[in-house]
Amino acid sequence: MKALIPAAGLGTRFLPVTSVIPKEMLPIGSRPALELIVDEARSAGATEIVIIISEGKELIRRYFAGQDDVKFVYQHGQKGLGHAVLQASGRFGDEQLLILLGDALVTGCNASKSMAEVSAANSGCSVIGCERVPRERVSRYGIMKPSSGAEIAAGNAFALFDIVEKPPVEEAPSDLAVAGRYLLDSRIFAYLADQAAGVGGEIQLTDAMRVLAKEQGMVGREFTGTRYDMGNKFGILQAIVQVALQHPEVKDQFRDYLKQVAENL
Ligand code: UTP
Repeated sequence: MKALIPAAGLGTRFLPVTSVIPKEMLPIGSRPALELIVDEARSAGATEIVIIISEGKELIRRYFAGQDDVKFVYQHGQKGLGHAVLQASGRFGDEQLLILLGDALVTGCNASKSMAEVSAANSGCSVIGCERVPRERVSRYGIMKPSSGAEIAAGNAFALFDIVEKPPVEEAPSDLAVAGRYLLDSRIFAYLADQAAGVGGEIQLTDAMRVLAKEQGMVGREFTGTRYDMGNKFGILQAIVQVALQHPEVKDQFRDYLKQVAENL
């Protein structure tokens, strides 16, 4: 298995800091979020990690210089996530492809590892990582449509029938949202290339995954940990607090500080 981390986006929701520091490099304690994501890929068994960057995000390249299992591919012109993934197709053969979004940090479990285990137990099938979201927020996410109409028990893997992009609450097929981790068959590149040939606009990873699910079947797997969206201000602040609460050097001091803050609210 090889991993791919798209980190070429513009990060407009986090301006002005992203005009000089990529959002993926914002510090969580003394390490950039992206390094925690690279670590997740490594401990899940990825032998090579390809990071997609763009001009202006060379800080990422400088930071990982010397880590021989980390490689870089440029995306010229930000035409969306699917386009970013497609740029790296030449780097991958027919091995499984683990995609980790560069701005989605998962703490409390190794999401990629648990997906790799589900795949290994199901003849190497493709697996999409997901998280449960409150019903009233389903319209912000890609929502999983399980094959069976039955309720999915927490943490269980399930056969996936389809993914519905940002459904209205009353039409949502579940409360399980696509959460920035995908373990996919290498055929995903062919499906992305088909879209690239057809349209001039954004190339959608979700559309290519829907084809893959129809052709080969796919499994969904709910994480046991928590995902933080590093693309928005609240997400990164939450991640900093969570990581601080587990940090061996500062956790006790930080917990006392938080209690003090809460008392004074
Ligand atoms: P986002 O959807 O958050 O887009 O990307 P963005 O452009 O980075 O951020 P905003 O919306 O302007 O604030 C999710 C992940 O996919 C990467 C991003 O770097 C991020 O890690 N991405 C997105 C690319 O690599 N290329 C793209 O064209 C778009």
